[in-house]
Amino acid sequence: MPRFSLLRAIGLFLFSGVAVAPLCATPFRTPVSYDEADRRASALLERMTTEQKLALIHGHNAFFIRGFPELGIPELYMSDATQGIHIRPKLPNQMARSTAFPSPIALAATWNPDLAYRYAYAVGEECRAGGIAILLAPGVNIYRQAQNGRSFEYFGEDPFLASRIAERYVRGVLDTGTLPTVKHFLANNTEFYRRISNSIVDERAQREIYLPAFKAAIDAGVMAVMTSYNQVNGEWTGESYPVITQLLRNSLGFKWLVMTDWGSIRDPAKTIRSGQDLEMPGDRHLKAHARRLLEAGEVNIGDINRMVRSILRTCIAMGLHDRPLKDESYLSKFPEHEAVSLETAREGIVLLKNNGVLPLRPTGSGSILVTGKYVDEIARGGGSAAVEGYAIVTLRQALSETYGARVEFVSQPSEEQLKAAAAVVYSVGTFDSEMIDRPFALPRDEEAGVLRAVNANSRTIVVVSSGGGIRMTDWNDKAAAIVYAWYPGQIGNRALAEILAGATNPSGKLPMTIEREWKDSPGYGYIPEGWELYPGRKGPLENDKNVYPIHYHEGVLVGYRWYEKKRIQPLYAFGSGLSYTTFSVRDARASRRRVAVGEAVDVTCTVTNTGAMAGAETVQVYVRPLSPPLLRPEKELKAFAKVRLAPGETRDVTFHLPADAFSFWDPVRRNWTVHPDRYEFRVGVASDQITAVTDVQIE
Ligand code: GLC
Repeated sequence: MPRFSLLRAIGLFLFSGVAVAPLCATPFRTPVSYDEADRRASALLERMTTEQKLALIHGHNAFFIRGFPELGIPELYMSDATQGIHIRPKLPNQMARSTAFPSPIALAATWNPDLAYRYAYAVGEECRAGGIAILLAPGVNIYRQAQNGRSFEYFGEDPFLASRIAERYVRGVLDTGTLPTVKHFLANNTEFYRRISNSIVDERAQREIYLPAFKAAIDAGVMAVMTSYNQVNGEWTGESYPVITQLLRNSLGFKWLVMTDWGSIRDPAKTIRSGQDLEMPGDRHLKAHARRLLEAGEVNIGDINRMVRSILRTCIAMGLHDRPLKDESYLSKFPEHEAVSLETAREGIVLLKNNGVLPLRPTGSGSILVTGKYVDEIARGGGSAAVEGYAIVTLRQALSETYGARVEFVSQPSEEQLKAAAAVVYSVGTFDSEMIDRPFALPRDEEAGVLRAVNANSRTIVVVSSGGGIRMTDWNDKAAAIVYAWYPGQIGNRALAEILAGATNPSGKLPMTIEREWKDSPGYGYIPEGWELYPGRKGPLENDKNVYPIHYHEGVLVGYRWYEKKRIQPLYAFGSGLSYTTFSVRDARASRRRVAVGEAVDVTCTVTNTGAMAGAETVQVYVRPLSPPLLRPEKELKAFAKVRLAPGETRDVTFHLPADAFSFWDPVRRNWTVHPDRYEFRVGVASDQITAVTDVQIE
């Protein structure tokens, strides 16, 4: 069995809910070893002229690393992004089509790391088909606040969940021979004037919240890191020696390619000395100034050689110098990719509320009135992550296929029409995109429309298509059901129709908290006094203003950590999501009552499908220190498993919690520490639905 598929087999078995641990059965091995790649890179370096070296350290034609055929160095094409390939018609040799997968936050909402592997593997195969050597994904920035325009591209608010999804995503891309890029390093948690924002975040919050998903990607073998647009504590990340060399390379142990985000640096000399390797897209600073800086002695050839060697070593190690970059045999895999896209939507859609109106059986009677924003238009995010897809299935098509003549589509329904319907499906949502943050609340007209519907018909099902949380507080109680469908990808509306009709049992869980009011959020107040949220691209590069600070005052209290510590009741809690069946999670027990600092503990609980329909439940294990020596969250997610059970079936699920499940970053000693204490394991099906507790004494 070829190495790639053996790993997939292992992945499938382990994540059937039997035992759960961060899964990398065998560490990723590059096709060419680091040392051999380094030797070959050094040999090439010897043969390169200064001109060639200076041409290699910045991109060209916006998305390429320059090639030198005379040296056997191929030109390499990079493409976005996490949810599929962003085809750029203005560039040469583009693919005819690429599969549009559900947004990455929907992937996180599946809580299924093995599915993340298969999703990424599919994207990686399309890269191979399209001659894309480097995929500019995954994005792993933590969901700090709901208004961030790029939340749809990332994996939610919790570093443990984001890490488990990120590591499997990275491995999935690597195993296709495509080079993944984890981004945007670091603390890029808003799009509001992103090029002039300064994330002021303390080291402990970096270590416990904002770095783990990057570390997980690095440990999974990621071979490129993209720095971000913003400052971190006053340092422009793309040109910062402390951020790149001291933190990313020395502390996190990253040894491969580092590239800038597009047009994100200001000082070419600092960039060359920072540990950065590659300026993208490459039409500015290094291209214009590197030679002058070298001749003036402001940078030395050793810096340039380091950059060139790092670029060459990474690409050689991935085998990109040793094989054709395009392999169109992978075009035959698109049907499999469509299936993964559909599976992701089925598992990622979250049923937040249901008073019994769902499932809405097709065999029922009475008309179903469908209206709202995304009936004929596909809900999707914008910017570099946008993926066109093909054979798009709209909500109209999917519901017509499912309900036939029972559905009537009315774009502006009257009061009478709303009242007369046996049920109403109301679509709301937001267009999210890089470069813009959007309000937490819906636009006034949309808010009025959904309020009108829930007031007119008590059997109104609201479908939310957004990349992050929206304000639902005024209509939440009156809606008969609320379904969070994210951005469904090209085929995801079919999954939505299956779920509404009961053909698929929903199993998605929120990867972030949805607050009642924007002012409840830990991110509230990041917009400077007198500045306004703006729609779309604002000014050439937003450089005409001064840098504005974003104080991460909440520290490690991001997401549920904040709402629990501050006793603020959210509308929907992290980890919540309903099923058409019911589950019990009980009888949590730890493998040992007492362990020494540095030892692991296993926790087992018993899960039963107590309903009448087969389904999957994600059992979550949160660790709570009872007497921490400094401020710590009430509890933190440290294990989870998605368990599939037939009606009446019972299964014991065991979680392995390694020593670091109990650790925190000691800001004084500046390292990870486990404090001797009693720790509870709070087990349940959502962060606010804990049904089984056990504990361990660590001494
Ligand atoms: C963008 C994005 C980044 C993307 C890059 C190339 O500005 O920030 O995520 O990969 O440019 O499109």
